Amino acid sequence: MDWWWMAEVDYVLAVWIKTNMIYLILGGLVLIYLWSNRVDIKHRWFAYFMHLLNKDKNPKIEELKSELFSSLSSVTSHDPELRKNNSIRILEIGVGTGVNFSHYPDGTHLVVVDPNPHFASYYDTNRKNFPNIESEDILVTTGEDMKGVADNSIDVVVMTLVLCSVTDTKQILKEILRVLVPGGKFYFLEHIREFEDKTHRRRQLLQDLLTYTGIWPFLFDGCHLNRDMLPAIQEAGFSKVDARRFHAPLDKLLLKLIIPHLKGVAQK
Ligand SMILES: C[S@@+](CC[C@H](N)C(=O)[O-])C[C@H]1O[C@@H](n2cnc3c(N)ncnc32)[C@H](O)[C@@H]1O
Repeated sequence: MDWWWMAEVDYVLAVWIKTNMIYLILGGLVLIYLWSNRVDIKHRWFAYFMHLLNKDKNPKIEELKSELFSSLSSVTSHDPELRKNNSIRILEIGVGTGVNFSHYPDGTHLVVVDPNPHFASYYDTNRKNFPNIESEDILVTTGEDMKGVADNSIDVVVMTLVLCSVTDTKQILKEILRVLVPGGKFYFLEHIREFEDKTHRRRQLLQDLLTYTGIWPFLFDGCHLNRDMLPAIQEAGFSKVDARRFHAPLDKLLLKLIIPHLKGVAQK
């Protein structure tokens, strides 16, 4: 086989790198600076990425969510004012672009929390399509620190695809228990570490590799591919936890790493 052209390509590339070395170094430094400092590129990029990802909803995931959230219609509010109108107060933590509006009962009073302020414009556009939901502005804070939400004030807490990114899972669960009314419910849907050791060992290895090297968390705003939150939820102090691990119907290549999922409802 004739390899001469590869040597030629190598030579041209080497010359190009040598000639432009100063620009490459400067460009790299500017990128590192912007990424880790002032412009908050990381958070802007992630909000935009989630906006793109959620543009076309996966009908199978929507069906799965409809099933998970179906019991919301039987929740009665602890708040007499809301009860009069047959509505409930939901707190959604890590609301992002607001992908769960369509699953909330009419008249829901929605309180939302997210530490990334760059989601606000996508969320605002999205909530305009749901005049049947009374949604508040995003409270820019983490789920670990929800001082703005009073004790025993929330009928239902919802969290979808959030626990993979949080800094302190135990603290968020403690906060959820604090804000929920007695008997209040916590609905969750999370991607988790592959749970079938024998049949999906390769996925486990890839999840560990991309998470431990920091590549995945760096690209996707602190997301960990290899967490399993079920033990933490079971040990948090809820009176009842009804949860199930399963493989989600996701077919895009990048999403194959987050096929293992956990869904359920816990009661205070
Ligand atoms: C993968 S996105 C999911 C967004 C949305 N829940 C969904 O299902 O599309 C993760 C979300 O969690 C938020 N988040 C990250 N760390 C958080 C924390 N400590 N407390 C609350 N939300 C957090 C992110 O800003 C982002 O909106």
